Amino acid sequence: MTYSAILLVGGMGTRLHPLTKTTPKPMLNVAGVPFIEHQIVRAREAGVSEIVLATSFLAELFQPHFGDGSAFGISIKYSIETQALGTGGAIRHASSSLSGTGPVIIFNGDVLSGHDLAGQIEFHINREADVTLYLTSVPDARAYGAVELVGDRVIAFNEKMEKPPTNIINAGCYVFNRDVINEIPDGKVVSVERETFPTLLVDSRRVFGYVDGSYWLDIGTPTALIKASQDLVLGVVESAATPAHQGDFLVAPGAIVGDGTKISVGSTIGRGALIGTDCIIEGSNIGAGAVIGSGTVLRNSYVANGCQVPAGTLGNSCYLGF
Ligand code: GTP
Repeated sequence: MTYSAILLVGGMGTRLHPLTKTTPKPMLNVAGVPFIEHQIVRAREAGVSEIVLATSFLAELFQPHFGDGSAFGISIKYSIETQALGTGGAIRHASSSLSGTGPVIIFNGDVLSGHDLAGQIEFHINREADVTLYLTSVPDARAYGAVELVGDRVIAFNEKMEKPPTNIINAGCYVFNRDVINEIPDGKVVSVERETFPTLLVDSRRVFGYVDGSYWLDIGTPTALIKASQDLVLGVVESAATPAHQGDFLVAPGAIVGDGTKISVGSTIGRGALIGTDCIIEGSNIGAGAVIGSGTVLRNSYVANGCQVPAGTLGNSCYLGF
């Protein structure tokens, strides 16, 4: 069985400013590749044969890397919103590019997870659901959509609130039946979290929750973005898109590392980067073509592609070159 999917990548990524002013969040390098490459490869592994990237902000930056998807073993198409349509409007707009008529998998383009996607699809089909949400538990649900369940049926959806009634949250991956997508108004700004889900519940539609406690991370904040990259390089979460490497760091082809430099804690050195001598690079992401002067110490930091960092720089949790 093969499936179709939509990957939502049109947001402004405001929590990651200034990193996301010129590179959309889904295209930021995480463990040596644009973040959504990890999601696209996982989707393919779960049986997705066709994926539409729902783009808006900096839409033109996706296709040069992903092309028609053939290099990734999947068909990739592009839906462009001239005016951002919100998550629901984006799903409706992108759905016209899908060739299949079966259930559609929807991914937020900022979630790194190890959840059983094939299991979620099977669950959706077995329950004869209209929509199935992947859910996970977090210690503090205030920044997310908290979901109330009876058994595995969703009975309430509470988007971002001060006192969430549960710590079970919307983990940002859904299976939608096509007729539910077709009910979303066309060409209008619609939020799937604030409008579509609450409306489906008021109408007593079959909305189910697929709870999966595997690795989950919303990469939308600076700390999380760096953690995602570290966790992929360290193998805390597996991704076939992470380039092959040995030990606890990743050096992309063409990068040069000077004598006496120590790289560790899940750091990534991008393609063609030049690292001087006697540097310490811990838990950091150095962009492609960046030049790091000798004696620099960077911990949990993110350096833009092509950025020049002067010799002797000391940086902890900083973002350079944005
Ligand atoms: P913040 O501004 O930091 O909240 O980031 P964001 O808006 O980019 O992400 P958010 O978590 O709010 O959205 C979830 C996913 O939906 C992300 O992958 C976004 O790229 C995507 N998204 C949000 N709004 C739109 C939209 O209007 N159109 C499209 N195509 N995608 C969207």
